[in-house]
Amino acid sequence: MEKKVILSGIQATGDLHLGHYIGVLKRFVEMQDEFDCYYMIANLHALTVRRDPKELKENVYKLLASYIAAGLDPDKSTIFLQSQVHEHAELGWVLDCYTYMGELSRMTQYKDKSAKHADNINAGLFTYPSLMAGDILLYQADLVPTGEDQKQHVELTRDLAERFNKLYGETFKIPKPFIEKVGARVMGLQDPTSKMSKSSTLPNDTILLIDTPEEIMKKVKKAVTDSDGIVKYDEENKPGISNLMEIYGIITSKTMDEIENEFEGQGYGNFKVAVADAIIKELEPFRNKYNELMANPSYLEEIYNKGAKKASEVASKTLKDVYEKIGIIR
Ligand code: TYM
Repeated sequence: MEKKVILSGIQATGDLHLGHYIGVLKRFVEMQDEFDCYYMIANLHALTVRRDPKELKENVYKLLASYIAAGLDPDKSTIFLQSQVHEHAELGWVLDCYTYMGELSRMTQYKDKSAKHADNINAGLFTYPSLMAGDILLYQADLVPTGEDQKQHVELTRDLAERFNKLYGETFKIPKPFIEKVGARVMGLQDPTSKMSKSSTLPNDTILLIDTPEEIMKKVKKAVTDSDGIVKYDEENKPGISNLMEIYGIITSKTMDEIENEFEGQGYGNFKVAVADAIIKELEPFRNKYNELMANPSYLEEIYNKGAKKASEVASKTLKDVYEKIGIIR
């Protein structure tokens, strides 16, 4: 039987944090053997916020080094830059013309980001989900692994694919969001009611994958919890503890019940140290490999160039079919 196709990506916006790692990167690695995986570096999407050009280039290298350091294998997965495969921008435009303003204005991420960047609410920020739909549909993806916050975009992608197929006949595979129950929304350590994010302004809220062991220990020890002293999973009433439990659970492959039993009657001190130790141990090989890779940019270039070649072959087939169906000559 043919392997199912996976497509996903991360924006090239700087250093990755633990939310990226737990929410998707660790999953990407786990999926490599079972699926035909396409993992993209979304650098065109990164343009929706004003960026320093030099930094944007550097972020691509950082993200690619993170992919490989986390365990993605370029011989198993197709790893490439969104900007290297021009079909992304082209299909993105086509899909813009099949997406309604009403649909885009309902996107929570658009609402959040336009509130955050009130001085630069550009059209790209608004049409961003159509470009993302193009990313997914070009590869006829079956499954799209993401964190919880991208679910709405994948659902819109399904609607667009169905709309297009209805008008022009079977063209796109209808993709499914692939979102795990645990870890799909890692919360900030200082504000466990908001998702962990690079743009958090609270100190110690976000653990970066390149943080030192000391920084990780300090941040976890300072994590906001509650006053009842019981390690128990209860997202609504104990968001801080529940978040730490999810992080610990994903890293150690323990269930929430097992974690509750492990720390029964121990208070939060021991638990926090165990969580920090688990993160530190998990990220140590990552950090070493990451530093090695960042010192070898030509190896990283080799990886993305090889990936782009394979990705282009698939993407060009889909776009050719789309253009033929809608009457675009090229
Ligand atoms: P981005 O770059 O914001 O985030 C990349 C992925 O990481 C997940 N994520 C989290 N998961 C759990 N907890 C968190 N705190 C957390 N923060 C981020 C996100 O849900 C996402 O899956 N538009 C996408 C990038 C993209 C894409 C695509 C994804 C472009 N084209 C095609 C899938 C398919 C984005 O901005 O993700």
